[in-house]
Amino acid sequence: MIELKDVTKSFGELHVLRGVSLKLPMRQTTAIIGPSGAGKSVLLKLLVGLIRADSGEVLCFGADMGRADDDELYAVRRRFGMLFQDGALFDNLSVAENVEFPLIHHRRDLKPSQRRDRVMAALEQVGLPELADRPTGRLSGGQRKRVGIARAIITEPEVVLFDEPNSGLDPVTSDAIDGLILSMKKSLGVTFIIITHDIVGTLNVADHIGMLYEGRLVQFGPTEELVQAPNPILRRFLQRNVSLPDPGHSGFELPSVRQRAM
Ligand SMILES: Nc1ncnc2c1ncn2[C@@H]1O[C@H](COP(=O)(O)OP(=O)(O)OP(=O)(O)O)[C@@H](O)[C@H]1O
Ligand SMILES: [Mg+2]
Repeated sequence: MIELKDVTKSFGELHVLRGVSLKLPMRQTTAIIGPSGAGKSVLLKLLVGLIRADSGEVLCFGADMGRADDDELYAVRRRFGMLFQDGALFDNLSVAENVEFPLIHHRRDLKPSQRRDRVMAALEQVGLPELADRPTGRLSGGQRKRVGIARAIITEPEVVLFDEPNSGLDPVTSDAIDGLILSMKKSLGVTFIIITHDIVGTLNVADHIGMLYEGRLVQFGPTEELVQAPNPILRRFLQRNVSLPDPGHSGFELPSVRQRAM
C-alpha cells in the first residue's frame, strides 16, 4: 500500500535520490538509517507529497503522491501522522494548540471538549501533560520533540512518520518513546517509518531496516538479517553505535564505554 518505484529527486545539480525502490511492510516498523545529507528527510516528505519526485512513483494508498491533486493529497495525509526533524511547531501557539492542530483539520466531527480530552491523552503519552498551556516558544529541545510526537499521533493515524524521534531526548524519555512506538504498533496496528541515528534504540523497535547511501537504498531487510549483513558501509554505520553479535551468537549488547568513546 506504500511503495516507492525507482524514485529520483534532485535539487539543481544535487542528485539526492538516484532511484529508490521500496515496499513498506504495513503494520510494522521500518527504520531508515544513513549518513547526514543522504536524503532521509527528503524521502519522508516525498511520502506525504510535500516534495514531489522528479521521476518514478510514490504510491500511498493508491495515490501517486508526485502527481496527486489537492483532494487526493488531503485524503492520504489524513491517514498519516508526521514528526518533522525540526519539529515544525507554531511557536506563537500553546503546546495544547499545537497538538490539537491536526484534529481541527482532519477530525471536524469532534467537539472542542472531545478534542481537549484527546490532546491531554496524547500529552500524557509523551509525558508532558503539565505543559499543555505553556507557550511552545519557551520549551526545551526535548520538550519540543515530544510535542511534535504528540501532534503526530493525535489523530491515531494508520501510518506514522517520525524524523529523528529520539534525538535530544534523555535515555529515560527515549525509552518511553520507544515503548510508545511498540505499543501503538501492537494495539493499533500502526505502520511506522522512523528515521534515526539511534542505532541501539532502532534495534529495539525496528522490524526492518533500510540504509540510504549515495542516493540509493543499499540495504533493506529484516532487522535480524541486517545486523548480520556483510555490507561494509552498513557495518561501519552499525558498529559505531553498537557491538554486533558474532555469527552464531544471538542477542545484542549495549556499546561498551570504550566503543562509545571511539
Ligand atoms: N528543499 C530543498 N532544497 C534544496 N536542497 C534540499 C532541500 N531539501 C533537502 N535538500 C538537500 O538534500 C540533501 C538531503 O537532505 P535531507 O534533509 O533529506 O538529509 P538527511 O538524510 O535527512 O540528513 P540528516 O541526517 O542530516 O537529517 C541535503 O544535501 C540537503 O541540503
Ligand atoms: Mg534529516
